[in-house]
Parts: sequence; C-alpha cells; structure tokens
Amino acid sequence: MGKLRMKRQPGAAFSISVSKRGEPFMPRQELQEGKTVLGKTNQRDTTLLLVDDEKVNLVLTAQIFHNRGFRVLTASNAAEALVLAKSEQPEVVLLDYFMPGKDGFTTLKEIKNTFPDIYVIILTGKGSEEIAVSLMKAGASDYVLKPFVNQDLVERVEKVLKVREVEIRNKELLQERDRLLLEIESWNRMLEKRVEEKSLELQKVQEEIVQTEKMSTLGYISAGMAHEIRNPLNSIGLYAQLLKGGLDDPERFEFLEKIEMEVQRIDGILRKLMDAVKRPRYHLQELSIPKVIDSLLELFQSRAKMHGIRIERDYRATPPQILADLTEVEQIFSNLFANSIEEMSDGGVLTIVLEQKEDMVHIDVIDTGKGIPQEDLQRIFDPFFTTKSSGTGLGLSVVLRIIRTYNGKIAVKSEAGKGTTFSITLPLHSPES
Ligand SMILES: Nc1ncnc2c1ncn2[C@@H]1O[C@H](COP(=O)(O)OP(=O)(O)OP(=O)(O)O)[C@@H](O)[C@H]1O
Ligand SMILES: [Mg+2]
Repeated sequence: MGKLRMKRQPGAAFSISVSKRGEPFMPRQELQEGKTVLGKTNQRDTTLLLVDDEKVNLVLTAQIFHNRGFRVLTASNAAEALVLAKSEQPEVVLLDYFMPGKDGFTTLKEIKNTFPDIYVIILTGKGSEEIAVSLMKAGASDYVLKPFVNQDLVERVEKVLKVREVEIRNKELLQERDRLLLEIESWNRMLEKRVEEKSLELQKVQEEIVQTEKMSTLGYISAGMAHEIRNPLNSIGLYAQLLKGGLDDPERFEFLEKIEMEVQRIDGILRKLMDAVKRPRYHLQELSIPKVIDSLLELFQSRAKMHGIRIERDYRATPPQILADLTEVEQIFSNLFANSIEEMSDGGVLTIVLEQKEDMVHIDVIDTGKGIPQEDLQRIFDPFFTTKSSGTGLGLSVVLRIIRTYNGKIAVKSEAGKGTTFSITLPLHSPES
C-alpha cells in the first residue's frame, strides 16, 4: 500500500503524492487543475471545493472525486474556502461543519450570501434534526453525516449538481422572461407613441378637410352672390353720383357721399370674398421672396411709424427665385402685415425672419401685439371670423387659400398679451414645375 503525502500549494489546492514503501516520494497528479483525470470522466467540467480541517479527510475525499473526473480544490479553513470560492467559482462545496475558527454554519451563510450559484453540502460528525433544519434554512443543499459511504457521498453530490443545474436554468428562464416582458413593454410604449402621433396627424388632416369644405361651401355661395350683388350695387353707386350733380343742399350732398362710401365698402368686401374663394388667373413669374417682402414693407412703413411700430428684418438666407404670381404672394404678406399692425396700435415690433432649409423657404412674421386667445386659434382661418368692428374676417382665408395653391404650409403660435407668430413654408419649386 502506498502512503499518502500532502504538499500545500499556494493559493489553492493540495497536490498529492503517493509513495510506495521504500521508494522516494514522487508527485503523481495535480488535483487543482482537474485536467488530468483518473478513473471515470463523467464530471470533467465540474469543480468541487472540499473544506475540512482534517487533512487526511480532505485528501481521501479529494481522491474519491478526483477519480470520478471532478476538478477538485481543497481548503482547510473558512478563509481559504472563501478565497477559492471567489477565484474558482466551484459548482459545489463540501463543507465540514465543525472547524476551528469560523465554523461551517457561518461559512455556509457567507458563501450563499456572496455566491448564490455555489451549492453547499455540509458534512458533520454529529447531526440532529434541529441542525439540519437550520442548515437548510441558511441555504445548504444537503447534509451528510460522517462517516459516510463513498458511493453515497458521490451520489449526493451528483444529485445536488442536477438540482443546481435545473434551478440555475430556471433562474435563467425567469430572467429571460423578465427581459422579454420589458422588451414587450417598451414595444408597447413605442406603439402607443406611434398611434398617438398618427392620430394627431389624422386629426390635422381632418381639420384641413373641414377647412377646405368650409372654403368650398363659401366659394359656391359667394361666387353667385357676389356677382348678383355687385351689379345692383354699381347701379346704386351710379345713381348716388347722379343725384349729387346739381344738388345745392349740403346736408343731402353729405348723405349721398355717405351712400357712395358705404357702397364702396360693400364692394370692397365682395372683392375680398371673391379673392378668398376664387383662384385668380395665374400670372407666373420668377420672384424673389425677400424682394417682394421688402417692397411691401416699404408700403407699410408709414402706417407702422404712425403707431410707433419698429420693423426688423432677419434674413438668414438668399433663397433662389420662385415661380409664382406676384399679386398672390403680395396678398399673403400684406394680409399678415396688416393684421400684425392692427394688433399693435400702441406700438411694438414687427419682425420678419427668412430662412431656407433644403428646398423650402421659411418665413416667420412675428409681432408683439395683443395675441390670440387660445379659444380663437382654431377659428382665425375660418372665413368671416373677425374680432374687429370693421373687419371682414377674410384676410387669413385668402392667405390660407394662396399658400395651399403653392403646396405650402402656415402655422400660428400665439400667447395672449405677448404676441403672435405666423410661420409660412413655401416650396422653392412652383406647383406647375
Ligand atoms: N397678428 C395677429 N394678432 C392677433 N390676432 C390676429 C392676428 N392676425 C389675425 N388675428 C385674429 O384673426 C382674426 C381673423 O383675421 P383675418 O385677417 O382673417 O380677418 P380680419 O383681420 O379680422 O379682417 P380683414 O382681414 O378681412 O380686414 C382677426 O380678427 C384677429 O382676431
Ligand atoms: Mg386681416
């Protein structure tokens, strides 16, 4: 029979040498690597940590498991065991219950707290049901009484390994389920956001349809009405002019002048109404938007000055010319400038910002006037919506119709008491090109 000798290896397991009587000690196998395997190889990838202060126990148990193909590590106290548990992450620890210093129970708790995936089997010479219960509660996977039958111990370890495999797989599946649930949740959130965005888009399109319907109804009625009204109206004006001739009574003369003025006012409204709904004949020409705005601003200059309004230009680009009808482009801006000036009767600033982004030109008309109350914002483009005693409420309808003709867009932002910004976007290529 050979005699067993042990030699401590720093930081890890023992190496074992088996000497035959009369022969020198020859190192035969390194246990800590678990690569050179004696006997069966069924646990080739499994690392087992044995913790026992009795070195003979340690070596014999190591040999049993080594022979079955385990990678075996050994430690003779709790401190060594914890170091090895951390660096080697064994699957199973066979832990002696009674050890000097830190006992098996405390070591068990420390291992389980720090490395829950390491399964611990407690070996003890003395056992009671009470101890067994407290060990299981502290996280032990099994509890083996010494002395044990080798085969029995191996079977217990293998059983614990199987349980461990199932439990770890289970844990992984649960984690995977949680991950998938989170993924589904984030998909849901994304979908909800998309639905919300699309609903908003739909709402905008619906609003545009409603607006178009309003315009076409208005067009249908006004095209006939305006025509029918303007003829008798012209006659009234003409007769009033005739009556004025040769009239001595200054009071009557004044009345007739008032009739003429009112007739002109009605005629103006009718013209505006027709502008709002009827597309005038195109006279397309190459236009420079900043130049059109500049010449209009010159016309508005004296009105602005009268009300103490400063005009500021912030042209950030010189966009190429666009093919458009001059009268129509002028109508867009003259209506917006007129509205702004009318809302700044006590002074303010009218700013025109011009920018080019790709093939679009953006113009902001910003005023520091009274602003538009929230409840009116939806209605300002409606034909005949006005808050002014002498307004027709057709200015913005004209603006909207023309901008749509050019495939452009108009948006408004306003805060009561602070001012209003109309933002216009016009494509640089004309609808015909
Ligand atoms: N810059 C602005 N600041 C505050 N309110 C505005 C502004 N522009 C338009 N509005 C509001 O929108 C309404 C409709 O404007 P719109 O130009 O269509 O008609 P109007 O100016 O009232 O009359 P018209 O232009 O026919 O003389 C105005 O009466 C006003 O209440
Ligand atoms: Mg107006």
